[in-house]
Amino acid sequence: MPKILVIHGPNLNLLGTREVNIYGDITISEINKELKKMAKKRKVDIETIQSNHEGEIVDIIGKANSKKVDAILINPAAYTHTSVAIRDAVSACGVPVVEAHLSNIYAREEFRHTSLVAPVAKGQICGFGLMSYILGFEAAINLIGK
Ligand code: DQA
Repeated sequence: MPKILVIHGPNLNLLGTREVNIYGDITISEINKELKKMAKKRKVDIETIQSNHEGEIVDIIGKANSKKVDAILINPAAYTHTSVAIRDAVSACGVPVVEAHLSNIYAREEFRHTSLVAPVAKGQICGFGLMSYILGFEAAINLIGK
């Protein structure tokens, strides 16, 4: 079965209690549960990880190809706006990458309007809460031709 790797970046472990006015009250385990249900229906393997560490995320993206990952769905969270290292990893990894955000980053503070990852991703979805992940997962499934 094709495999999709879902990467949640920094502070997303706090979803549910973190700035609920922006991110809603959904938790990361609820998001993962929805994606796992979808993966089962669509007959794809899914692996989910969360990390608060830039270098760890770089390592995981860099190993994706050799671990036979077919597509990556990533919410790089704050690193979206700062990390040349994650951007370079995405660009180099040889696996199609979809970027997702719960909030509409373009409707927020100006420093969130720039994504360093978006130009090297296949595409970006933001502003739809849980639905950003579901649409992003759908896009990833589509990219692997399932
Ligand atoms: C986020 C948006 C980022 O700007 C922010 O730093 C996050 C979450 C989102 O999902 O809306 O941590 O990626």
